Amino acid sequence: MTHTPPPHTTPLPNGLFIVFEGLDGSGKTTQCNMLCEALQQRGFWATFTKEPTDGPWGQKLRQNFQTRDLSVEEELELFIRDRKQHIAELIQPTLQQGGAIVQDRYYLSTAAYQGSRGLDPQQIIADHQTFAPTPHRIYILDISPELGIQRITEGRGEQPNAFEQLESLQRCHEIFASINLPNIRRLDGTLAPAELHAQILQDLTPLLNIA
Ligand code: TYD
Repeated sequence: MTHTPPPHTTPLPNGLFIVFEGLDGSGKTTQCNMLCEALQQRGFWATFTKEPTDGPWGQKLRQNFQTRDLSVEEELELFIRDRKQHIAELIQPTLQQGGAIVQDRYYLSTAAYQGSRGLDPQQIIADHQTFAPTPHRIYILDISPELGIQRITEGRGEQPNAFEQLESLQRCHEIFASINLPNIRRLDGTLAPAELHAQILQDLTPLLNIA
C-alpha cells in the first residue's frame, strides 16, 4: 500500500475519514466499495480499509473468531493494538496528505461487540477518544440481527462465527442503537444499495465542496 497521493488528485484540506459500522451482513463492504469508487471518480485520493486489519494483531484475532479462546479483555487488547498500528501506518498518514479513508468498522464495533461480552461500551468509546482520530462521519447501517444472520448464511454460504450468534448480535444491535455521537448518521440497511449510496453522497456533499 502506497502512502503517497497519486498524481492529479484533489487534496482534501483535513483529509476525509468515513467509517461504516453495523452488524455483520448489514452491507458495509458494499457501501465502502461504492463510496470509494465514487470519491475516486470525483478526483479524490480514496483508500478502502478495514478492521480487524490483515496485520499481525488482526490475523491473531481472526484465528480466534471460530474458537474464541481469548477472554474479552485479551480480545479488547488485541483490537486496540491492531487499531493503533492501523492509525499510525495508514489512517493518519493518508489523512495528513489530504486523502480519504473509507473504513469498514472502527471503535464503535469494539463498543458493540466487546460490549456484548460484558465490557462497558461508553468506557471503550471514551478510551478511544483519547488516541483515535475522530471520523468525519460514522454511518451505522441498521438491520435486525435476524436479517444479518440470514444474509450471512444464505447470501454468503458462510457459517456464523462466534460473534454472529443471534443473542450476542441482539446485544450488539442494542448497543449500536444506544450510542449517540454528533458524527453518527443512521441509515436503513434494508434499502437497496444504490439508494443507500445516494443518501450517503448527498450527506457528504458539503464536506467535498472544497474551494
Ligand atoms: P468482519 O468485518 O466480519 O471481518 P471479515 O468479514 O473479514 O471476517 O469482522 C470480523 C468480526 O470482528 C465481526 O464479527 C465483528 C468483530 N469485531 C469485534 O468484535 N470488535 C472490533 O473492534 C472489530 C473491529 C470487529
